[in-house]
Amino acid sequence: MDHPFNAIWRTAVKKSIALFAVLALAPLSGAWAGEDLMAQAREQFKPIPSAPPALMGNAATKERVELGKMLFFDPRISASHLISCNTCHNVGMGGDDNLETSIGHGWAKGPRNAPTAFNAVFNVAQFWDGRAEDLKAQAKGPVQAGVEMNNKPAQVEATLRSMPEYVTRFERAFPGEKVSLSFDNMAKAIEAFEATLITPYSRFDQFLEGNATILNKQEKEGLALFMDKGCAACHGGVNLGGQGYYPFGVVEKPGADILPEGDKGRFEVTKTADDSYVFRAAPLRNIELTAPYFHSGKVWDLEQAVAVMGQSQLGEKLSDSQIQAITAFLKTLTGEQPKVEYPVLPVSTATTPKPVAMQ
Ligand code: HEC
Ligand code: HEC
Repeated sequence: MDHPFNAIWRTAVKKSIALFAVLALAPLSGAWAGEDLMAQAREQFKPIPSAPPALMGNAATKERVELGKMLFFDPRISASHLISCNTCHNVGMGGDDNLETSIGHGWAKGPRNAPTAFNAVFNVAQFWDGRAEDLKAQAKGPVQAGVEMNNKPAQVEATLRSMPEYVTRFERAFPGEKVSLSFDNMAKAIEAFEATLITPYSRFDQFLEGNATILNKQEKEGLALFMDKGCAACHGGVNLGGQGYYPFGVVEKPGADILPEGDKGRFEVTKTADDSYVFRAAPLRNIELTAPYFHSGKVWDLEQAVAVMGQSQLGEKLSDSQIQAITAFLKTLTGEQPKVEYPVLPVSTATTPKPVAMQ
């Protein structure tokens, strides 16, 4: 039952608990509540930058971002012409669909909850199991997935090529390339747009930037607990997560109602026994906007999700007031939502492939 990976993690978590036990000797009202809390937080978390980060091998020119936005909203890259990226990653709803698991082509229910597309650019790799290395690798997945958009690269290219405005826009976004309009460049353009979907200026970020009074007492207690108890060991960095992989159930495996047995997570990617039920530590930015929670989408209440984490990852039954404080802190992670003007899309032509009927 117990494998070495768990043991390593338990030690790491214990170490951080030991460290914080020492720090916790300082009276709460004094050191913790003031500058020390800020200093400690700055070591573990980073604010979201005000501008999108540079992308590897993808120059995010204005033309590319604009094209990517159109493609993100264009349902005609799906076989049915009904489903766009925005269907499941709704930019008006925190970048996801607020469904237990997503509904795709043919009304098929997918196996996992849709993570938000917001701030995804800061994750070390994409998907609950990290199987796509970056956003441009990721973007090719859903277009082809049977339970998502169910399309073929050649069909997507034919669709886009049938509309003269897209041809021109691809040429401008990818100048000097022999074939500007391609499936690969579609993914690059989408990546350039997605990188703009960042949410800076949350109250927590303002705290990290030096505004000590922007968080109230309960939120500060929640932040202290989040670091104290060891949550931050897995949920750190810019996105408070999205950086590493851990068993869901380091200490105690949740029941099948929350962790369905059929989805073994990273095991499917690496085929290593140690990776059974290992998932990427979920990024927690804007978490109050993206219920339901976990890859199964089985938990709708954020307080319950916090309680589950305490039990499964730390082996600790958190008290109601601790759960409420941590949840209050998590709500300070809601940033300024991106303002996206809905793009006007080119009209279909006589040569645009017709939509496939959904059963
Ligand atoms: C039918 C719903 C659906 C559609 C359509 C869809 N997605 Fe997703 N998306 C999901 C689900 C579900 C996941 C998680 C899958 C997994 O982890 O195995 C996901 C994962 C992602 C992620 C990874 C985020 C992270 O934190 O790991 C990104 C980015 C993303 N999708 C972008 C897109 C883009 C771009 C498109 C359009 C080309 C798109 N999606 C279309 C449902 C959808
Ligand atoms: C050992 C690493 C680890 C620790 C410690 C940990 N988590 Fe997690 N957390 C994860 C993983 C992995 C997931 C993804 C679980 C899944 O597969 O759905 C996750 C998911 C979550 C989610 C759901 C996010 C979503 O979008 O669905 C929340 C909320 C959360 N953690 C909060 C916490 C809190 C609060 C603590 C401390 C009490 C904590 N975590 C401790 C690894 C950890």
